[in-house]
Amino acid sequence: MTKQSNSEDLSTKIFIKNWSIYRKIIENNNMSHKEGYSVLKQIISDEMQNPFSFLDLACGDAYYSSRVLNGSKAIKYVGIDISDQALSFAKDNFKGSQISADFIEADFVKFPEFLDSEPDVIWVGFSVHHLDSSQKLEFMKDIREVLAHGGLFMLYEPILIDGEDLKQYYVRFKNTFDKYWKGLDSEESEYLLEHVRETEKPETTQDWIALGKEAGFGNSEKVFSDRTGLYEIFKYK
Ligand SMILES: C[S@@+](CC[C@H](N)C(=O)[O-])C[C@H]1O[C@@H](n2cnc3c(N)ncnc32)[C@H](O)[C@@H]1O
Repeated sequence: MTKQSNSEDLSTKIFIKNWSIYRKIIENNNMSHKEGYSVLKQIISDEMQNPFSFLDLACGDAYYSSRVLNGSKAIKYVGIDISDQALSFAKDNFKGSQISADFIEADFVKFPEFLDSEPDVIWVGFSVHHLDSSQKLEFMKDIREVLAHGGLFMLYEPILIDGEDLKQYYVRFKNTFDKYWKGLDSEESEYLLEHVRETEKPETTQDWIALGKEAGFGNSEKVFSDRTGLYEIFKYK
């Protein structure tokens, strides 16, 4: 595992200090990992017919990514995350895999520094919404620049509804949380809600699509919306 950075702010604290909260979120399917990652698996199976490399930015424990790639034509995986705890779980999830896997502890927006070849697929699950709109655009331009010819970039992100501001987004998040989320005790719930209230900066569906076009992708589309209406997957080519 390559160690590159130790930076920490509120948007990363929840994951660095306490991966077990996020593990519970995944296990209870609160953020529709199961359905979203099935969509990723299907798209990869439809579109990646030749051996390919996969860059997983803010990969977390790679629980679902490793399962998506298992049985696909992936030959190389690189996971970048700022949490060494998450990366050690990610490493375990690739144990015994035929895929050559490398794990880098770093800020995911600095990913171009760590690449030795152009990735065929770049995936970011639930992490770009911490950036401001202008940073999102710069990040997506960097992706466009390094992505292999004919490659695929996909995002799984929370979305704003047209006309909604961040305060209203938080109220909608809290209502969704009360209705659908399971498995967290009251302290964990408070911690999670503070994280969402203080750090999330989602875009509307149209803005996620527009950002892709502005970054230079010819094809920019929404391919999935989860049951709660909070999360969507976007595909850029
Ligand atoms: C919501 S989790 C998403 C994990 C995984 N991608 C998924 O789909 O479940 C966010 C992840 O981003 C990581 N993270 C947060 N800020 C980061 C940063 N600036 N650079 C790299 N990783 C970061 C956290 O450690 C955490 O693993």
